[in-house]
Amino acid sequence: MGTDRPRTPLGIDLLIDVGADGEPRARSIELALRQGVSSGRLPAGMRLPSTRSLADDLGIARGTVVAAYAQLAAEGWLVSATGSGTRVAEVHRPPTTSTSPTAGPPALARGVIDLRPGRPDLSLFPHTLWSASVKRALATAGADSMDYGDPAGLRALREAVATYVARARGVHAEPEAVVITSGFSHALALVSRALRELGVSVIATEEPGLAHHRRLVRGAAVETAPLRVGPNGADPAAVPARAGAVLLTPSHQHPRGVVLSRESRAAFLHWADAHDGFIIEDDYDGEFRYDKQPVGAMQALDPGRVIFAGSTSKALAPGLRIGWLVLPERLRIPVLDALTVSGATVGAPDQLALADLLERGDYDRHVRRARLAYQKRRAELAGRLSDVTKVPLDGVPAGLHALLPLASNQEEKRLVDAGLAAGVHLMGVQAGGYWQSAERGKPGLIIGYATPPQHSWRSALDVLTRLLHGAAVTPW
Ligand SMILES: Cc1ncc(COP(=O)(O)O)c(C=O)c1O
Repeated sequence: MGTDRPRTPLGIDLLIDVGADGEPRARSIELALRQGVSSGRLPAGMRLPSTRSLADDLGIARGTVVAAYAQLAAEGWLVSATGSGTRVAEVHRPPTTSTSPTAGPPALARGVIDLRPGRPDLSLFPHTLWSASVKRALATAGADSMDYGDPAGLRALREAVATYVARARGVHAEPEAVVITSGFSHALALVSRALRELGVSVIATEEPGLAHHRRLVRGAAVETAPLRVGPNGADPAAVPARAGAVLLTPSHQHPRGVVLSRESRAAFLHWADAHDGFIIEDDYDGEFRYDKQPVGAMQALDPGRVIFAGSTSKALAPGLRIGWLVLPERLRIPVLDALTVSGATVGAPDQLALADLLERGDYDRHVRRARLAYQKRRAELAGRLSDVTKVPLDGVPAGLHALLPLASNQEEKRLVDAGLAAGVHLMGVQAGGYWQSAERGKPGLIIGYATPPQHSWRSALDVLTRLLHGAAVTPW
């Protein structure tokens, strides 16, 4: 038997799976309602259809529904009161737990300040500007913008992104080369799949680097191989022979924070030319450099070999799930095919709102404000830590995180545990799965100084400073 969706006189669209598993109808209505209440799908206080209308909608005898409601009321799932019909009762539900390995960071215990990397200060999100952009965009959008549309993204946003990345990051971009994605994660999955279609079987990824990104590459049936990172960024001499592409964070290596040197950029491009390879440029926080002008995108040096990827996750908020690719001609169709197969595109209202935000310059203004806030925090962090550790933070003043190199794995674990006990959540390089080679690399703390909201930043800094007093720190 299938699923019935009764239309009730209250206008409630109630999905009830009747007759499943060969159960008699009264029993299956009972099962479906019990399951709906215990899972929270039917919330406490929700008014159920009258027995007569539900029976009519389901095409069954009214007595069957009356019996089911009576049984559930007796069990405490429903409450009936004369005059106000039958409602869902208040029931205790066990808390649900997330089992997804790629879900966002687990919720923190109350009072613990999050200093893990990966997120901007979410309290800085420009709610007023975003709401105004949504409103303006919807007021002026034609009806056809709500159609399925071009999988590459709405023309208005692709134009706005092309202008923005050319202006702010020096990228060579035509709107035709831009593809809108659901953030960098989605973009990497699509590009990996497209590269596989072009015959790439291995993508070299930075070591240390994000385990999540390696998982995305492997999810597209492409192997990953470690690519050593030194003080000048990823080492072009270390590209494994079988690699057909490399994934780089050139303007601010994640997590070391170093910048890919000019010589190494040239060497990677040379490698790509010689091996018919591709470079994936993950420009996740390229807008945030504090000591000087950011280094321009590597893509500008060879738009035919470099796949440029940007995201709004650091500049606005990761919850938006919007990013973009600027693609070499050869990859456009394979990436669009992968996008179509992925079944996911960004919704039109969000695309239109972002286009509006970019066109008006509000995006730039917001980035400038956020940059000032994070620049101040980075300087405060470096200043306070220089009082208690002899070793400076690794890398350049940029981005939303900084790496403090440590002397041993035991010290990393000790500090993370002590941090939790003292009220700050820290991320260790070892524990965070940043090394993929069997021989594991060095330990350290990746301090996400942008993550806490402004009101808790000072106490985060105080706790961290106390914690790091006398810590065993050694440069990498
Ligand atoms: C190295 C790196 N790349 C890219 C991203 C952005 O990913 P997404 O756009 O999927 O949120 C992040 C976010 O934390 C990151 O750390």
